[in-house]
Amino acid sequence: MSDTRQATLSPTQRAGSRKVFIKTYGCQMNVYDSQRMGDALAGGGYVTTEAMEEADLVLLNTCHIREKAAEKIYSELGRIRVMKAERAAAGKDLRVAVAGCVAQAEGREIIARAPVVDLVIGPQTYHRLPQALSRVEKGERVVETDYAVEDKFEHLPKAGKREIGARGVTAFLTVQEGCDKFCTFCVVPYTRGAEVSRPLAQILDEARRLADAGVREATLLGQNVNAWHGEDAGGRPIGLGGLLHALAEIPGLDRLRYTTSHPRDMDDELIAAHRDLPQLMPYLHLPVQSGSDAILKAMNRRHTGEDYLRLIERIRAARPDIALSGDFIVGFPGESEADFEATMRLVEAVGYASAFSFKYSPRPGTPGAELAGHVDEAVKSERLARLQELLRRQQLAFSESLVGQKLSVLVEKPGRRPGQIVGRSPYLQPVVMDENAGSVGDVVTVEIAGAVANSLIALGASDARSALTGGPVAA
Ligand code: 5AD
Ligand code: SF4
Repeated sequence: MSDTRQATLSPTQRAGSRKVFIKTYGCQMNVYDSQRMGDALAGGGYVTTEAMEEADLVLLNTCHIREKAAEKIYSELGRIRVMKAERAAAGKDLRVAVAGCVAQAEGREIIARAPVVDLVIGPQTYHRLPQALSRVEKGERVVETDYAVEDKFEHLPKAGKREIGARGVTAFLTVQEGCDKFCTFCVVPYTRGAEVSRPLAQILDEARRLADAGVREATLLGQNVNAWHGEDAGGRPIGLGGLLHALAEIPGLDRLRYTTSHPRDMDDELIAAHRDLPQLMPYLHLPVQSGSDAILKAMNRRHTGEDYLRLIERIRAARPDIALSGDFIVGFPGESEADFEATMRLVEAVGYASAFSFKYSPRPGTPGAELAGHVDEAVKSERLARLQELLRRQQLAFSESLVGQKLSVLVEKPGRRPGQIVGRSPYLQPVVMDENAGSVGDVVTVEIAGAVANSLIALGASDARSALTGGPVAA
């Protein structure tokens, strides 16, 4: 096993003249991982570029959650192959690396299927990127997908104040990785491994660095973030609620969020944190996947629809204005029309502020893929359309319910149009405001004058109508 502390850099790496283009697919944890890979490569002399054409290294940070997500990678590699051939014709090099969950799941197969690829590196080993690239430069094709025994976070260089500052006033912070829940549709326990919590001190150190560099809002990440557990300074066991209390003490961190949670791990301490911590935003992503108990059982979710509804009641009792978000899968094997209708009823009963919904996609190696009763694609599409229509109406109703209210908004960046700035509501919606409402990094209070889908417009924002009809206001 290699040791990152002994990374040897080639003269070109040391010269700092090389450019890396990182393309991120999938979830927020991949966004965070891409930033950390950028930090690791900066230590090896690479600077990041937004333009693939000028890159010496193209790194795809991939997602394996659904078949479509994985197939996208191979189409992209097809395009990169053409680019690499053009470079080679001009006597120039282009290195290609595949990281993330497709790398972990398919490993050596990627090299076989896509000869353009020089390096395959899994999510648990990306701290070894500089050494792996040195081997590539010597002509090797490298596959690094072992689960590292060392803690990658300990071995990754810490981002400097300038790099953090350049990423904006909101930041992701991974506190937990992996999953032991083994929902029968999901590849995560196989690609990201068993549940591991980062130690409290390591998280607090990273959070302080973020706050010192101007970050005002941190979103704690984990595949199963509310399974986080650790010890406080006195050695007493604490859960995510305790961690949030500790983070709330850090000056400058005005807002905290966390994602993604499993209903089974919403304990009393965490629910109480929603009541007690003003920094904890009243927005919770709590996937239920289905409203049918038979399907939930086949999914190995270990809760019923009723358990979920009772949990939502307890959370709302602690924080009445909390907005809920969820994930749904339609067309899991065996899902009947009655099962699907149970999902629709659950959605009606909860009232979501936002949600993500997907057609079931059988993933090789997961138990769901082996089940009988696969649902017709046309039926899946029809159910998804019905569910999404209901969720869309709920989202719009929620946004419209905020019109006339005063909301606190964290100002994030200039708007798309001159004279405008864009921020986030407590409920994660982009809010378009007049530029005089505040500066980037301020938390301001504005009155909401209008709403479309998931975007809000503050009273006084210039050109309000076009701001609302111009599509999504922020990414
Ligand atoms: N098919 C469809 N959707 C899936 N998800 C996870 N695995 C699959 C799959 N095999 C969805 C779940 C999860 C979200 C991240 O992706 O809803 O919560
Ligand atoms: Fe996948 Fe989430 Fe289930 Fe874990 S809890 S197996 S990450 S869906």
